[in-house]
Amino acid sequence: MTPQDTRQYAPATERNREPILEILLQVLPGSGTVLEIASGTGEHAVYFASKLKDSIWLPTDANPQARASIIAWTEHFGCSNIYPPLELDVREPVWSVETETVSQWLNTSPIIAIVNINMIHISPWLACLGLMAGAGRILPVGGILYLYGPFKQGGEHTAPSNAAFDEYLRAQNPEWGVRNLDDVVAAAKAEHLTLKQTYQMPANNLSVVFER
Ligand SMILES: C[S@@+](CC[C@H](N)C(=O)[O-])C[C@H]1O[C@@H](n2cnc3c(N)ncnc32)[C@H](O)[C@@H]1O
Repeated sequence: MTPQDTRQYAPATERNREPILEILLQVLPGSGTVLEIASGTGEHAVYFASKLKDSIWLPTDANPQARASIIAWTEHFGCSNIYPPLELDVREPVWSVETETVSQWLNTSPIIAIVNINMIHISPWLACLGLMAGAGRILPVGGILYLYGPFKQGGEHTAPSNAAFDEYLRAQNPEWGVRNLDDVVAAAKAEHLTLKQTYQMPANNLSVVFER
């Protein structure tokens, strides 16, 4: 019997992975472990790990089906610089990577950056707050938090397509929605994360880079 293929597909990952990689190559510290929060299908994880050979990629997701997909993509790709996915819900007061066991196996290559793509608008605001709190606890001084997604700027949508997307998200869950960049920056600041740079990305998205 052939094992079930649990790989999931998110078509947007193929469109946005190269522009995101371009930014990651500029902003990530040279080597160390990159903790990916909300890895989803795992397509980004295997792609970025294959391109960032000096780093070790640590994918995570709160959803067990996503973690099964990440495992399947990792097996399919055969990457060596990627850890098995961990269960991690950003709203937890202590993240799985902070437990003694995981901290110990991360000793040789500590977490130097956190990457979070397309999550904070598809989860309650509490998830954004949890993300910032965890990044503030875990990142060393000089560590990087990278966010990607659509954002309002100055309280306004930056494109009609983002406004329509926001409405679509809120119809699915009133706690979801495109976040205002100023609110995200303020939440980060409260956890000692300073906005370093924003980059305009294709399809009216932003890359937002913070430094601990
Ligand atoms: C739209 S998907 C994005 C996945 C992937 N980063 C991508 O760009 O394809 C949102 C992901 O956020 C994860 N997620 C939602 N709430 C979360 C939370 N509180 N903690 C961790 N992950 C969460 C979901 O399980 C899902 O995999």
